[in-house]
Amino acid sequence: MNVSQLIVGINGSLRAASSNAALLRAVARVLPDGVGFEIYDGMDTLPHFNPDLDAEGMEPPPPVRALRELLARADAIVISSPEYAHGIPGALKNLLDWLVSDGALVDKPVALLNAAPAGGHYAQAALAETLRTMNWRLIDEASRMEPFVRRKIAGELTDDDALAVLRGALDALLRAAT
Ligand SMILES: Cc1cc2nc3c(=O)[nH]c(=O)nc-3n(C[C@H](O)[C@H](O)[C@H](O)COP(=O)(O)O)c2cc1C
Repeated sequence: MNVSQLIVGINGSLRAASSNAALLRAVARVLPDGVGFEIYDGMDTLPHFNPDLDAEGMEPPPPVRALRELLARADAIVISSPEYAHGIPGALKNLLDWLVSDGALVDKPVALLNAAPAGGHYAQAALAETLRTMNWRLIDEASRMEPFVRRKIAGELTDDDALAVLRGALDALLRAAT
């Protein structure tokens, strides 16, 4: 298949049966033909962020380099994350902290989703603030700041209305990424 665009998905949850992982798998199902999609799966291998390990000219730890290389290849990024205690999961914030200094990601189109049937808006707002501060290009029409999944996802996302919302969000993201 000739893949013309690549979208990378980042899940803020490390849970084995993560509903945000199911949502990202649904993204893969609804994307148009010819659009590549890869879910980043190394968040639990990243060391704790330390600016001393991220100084100018320094070779980053290998898991960080792999993350940066993957995201540099992406035309756009989708983040789907749970909310923990009205904030974003520490593992996801750690991942983002490793990317603050990465100039290759400035202006990268990004969409925010989350799989929670209710709530999640504190985390979405915090993520949006962080990403704008990092100068990523948050695509509002491609993001869902309020819940759109009606029931907790068990297994795979099959709800037609939710899948239609996802399709609309991804269309907006792909338009922004061209
Ligand atoms: C420690 C912890 C704290 C949570 N805090 C919140 C919260 O403040 N607001 C909220 O809407 N959900 C909260 N939740 C629920 C999760 O955000 C929700 O279950 C999410 O869908 C889990 O995502 P996952 O299935 O991808 O792991 C919390 C869950 C955990 C484990």
